Amino acid sequence: MRTAYSLLGLGLATLLAVPASAGDTSAKKAMVERGRYLIATSGCNDCHTPGYMQKDGKVPESEWLTGESMGWQGPWGTTYAANLRLALSQMTEQQWLARARGAYRPPMPGPSLHAMTDADLRAIYRYVKSLPLKGNPAPAYVPPGGQVATPYFDFTPKNLPKQAAAK
Ligand code: HEC
Repeated sequence: MRTAYSLLGLGLATLLAVPASAGDTSAKKAMVERGRYLIATSGCNDCHTPGYMQKDGKVPESEWLTGESMGWQGPWGTTYAANLRLALSQMTEQQWLARARGAYRPPMPGPSLHAMTDADLRAIYRYVKSLPLKGNPAPAYVPPGGQVATPYFDFTPKNLPKQAAAK
């Protein structure tokens, strides 16, 4: 009798578990898809994928978010768009939510990440984590006036009106 009940229990559990886990998988897939969509539409590749802007986005997905060794120089020093595959592989999803809402140097569009919902940030995390690890970390930040060993874009403001320059 006991065996019959536990078998029945097992049968029920299996019946219940199968649709639940199938639903789970498609929900997970949908989240990864949404993350991919957010990455593709919010400009992340422009900076975090090598050559993406220069090639008008014609870069295979296998190269996406592997970081850029071309620097961005301005009054803030010289910054490099991180290899997000490597960076996110070092964080838990919870740590990612905190990092995403943290501080960045220009030209990283921090306010865009700050304005995203938890659900969107989690989707981005799931997508980036679904990509294989690839490439090297981007070069380290160089403070203003420091020696820069890589090519870089110059974002130094020029041709400012006299009044602004005098201030
Ligand atoms: C205009 C260029 C640009 C765009 C667009 C951009 N980033 Fe960045 N990102 C950078 C730069 C440069 C840094 C390095 C900033 C620093 O040194 O503080 C950075 C840093 C980061 C970091 C920090 C990595 C770490 O190691 O802590 C994350 C996370 C990040 N970006 C995610 C994104 C996401 C997600 C998007 C799209 C929504 C995006 N970025 C769009 C340029 C950009």
